[in-house]
Amino acid sequence: MRISETRAGARSITLYDYEPTPDRICDDVVRGLTRRPRTLPPKYFYDEKGARIFEQITELEAYYPTRTEISILRAHAAEMAERVGRNVRLVEFGSGSGDKTWLILEHLVAPAAYIPVDISRAQLVDFAIRVSEAFPNLRVEAVCADYTAEYELPDDVPASRSVAFFPGSTIGNFEPGEAETFLGRVRRLVGPNGGLLLGVDLRKDPGVIELAYNDPQGVTAEFNLNLLRRINRECYADFDLDGFRHNAFFDDEASRIEMRLVSERRQAVRVGGGPEDGAALEVEFHQGDHITTEYSHKYDLLRFAGMADAAGWRITDTWTDEREWFAVLLLE
Ligand code: AVJ
Repeated sequence: MRISETRAGARSITLYDYEPTPDRICDDVVRGLTRRPRTLPPKYFYDEKGARIFEQITELEAYYPTRTEISILRAHAAEMAERVGRNVRLVEFGSGSGDKTWLILEHLVAPAAYIPVDISRAQLVDFAIRVSEAFPNLRVEAVCADYTAEYELPDDVPASRSVAFFPGSTIGNFEPGEAETFLGRVRRLVGPNGGLLLGVDLRKDPGVIELAYNDPQGVTAEFNLNLLRRINRECYADFDLDGFRHNAFFDDEASRIEMRLVSERRQAVRVGGGPEDGAALEVEFHQGDHITTEYSHKYDLLRFAGMADAAGWRITDTWTDEREWFAVLLLE
């Protein structure tokens, strides 16, 4: 891990850098493509271009989660901040463009530090500097890391407690067992009197959910296919982006969207074999074979409460929209 000071204009922030190396990414890619079903980890969607496409998704008419969550945060941020308490160390997982962060930060009373954790370094540093400019008295310590991997939180600033902020329903990307494990890790990370403010997308009419991942403009398709472009670049692969198509459907039993890339024809794809390690993997696809790229679980509140409980948390507050499409929960 490297610690550095990054500055822009008058402000500087501390960066704790655990960014995954290309080796890590390519190991994960090879592991995913050699097992059945073939999978690729959704966390690698967010290279610079992927992060930009995701921003476009959040603005789509069909993609309801972001808009709905923001309306909940707008309506209840003051109360949320009060429940979170004063002088907290706020840790955010996957801060991304940070649109939701402002809503919380603006209402917090004398926060001790803001610690965004994100896998995409460029976006992380850019956002951390903007926060630091907007809140000159707030300590901003950016952690570039895959928040599902190993890293430590800076704790050099005294605070009343640590509260994690994990909006966007990104917890839905985990399989239920992994989600429970993750919740347990967050509980240890924030310590005995810590909290977690969490966004969760809820079950609803499957038609509404499916449309959100099959937008008519094809932005989600572009987002999905961009993963192959990134792997081509970073893992010396030769995926033909015209040889795969986007597919997303709601699996009612598992209560989740499954996103796939489906092979349009029989083809072989080479992965690896860059300048340093000569050995390349050949992955064969028949027409119709797929790679699963993302799950997005849609929870019902009772089921989620059971999972939180198993991980040692208690839901103390629930905020939702009128239609109950999305919930923001405070876990203690
Ligand atoms: C950022 C993981 C919450 O699952 O809805 C959006 C990502 N994928 N459209 C989601 C996503 C396709 C998004 N999360």
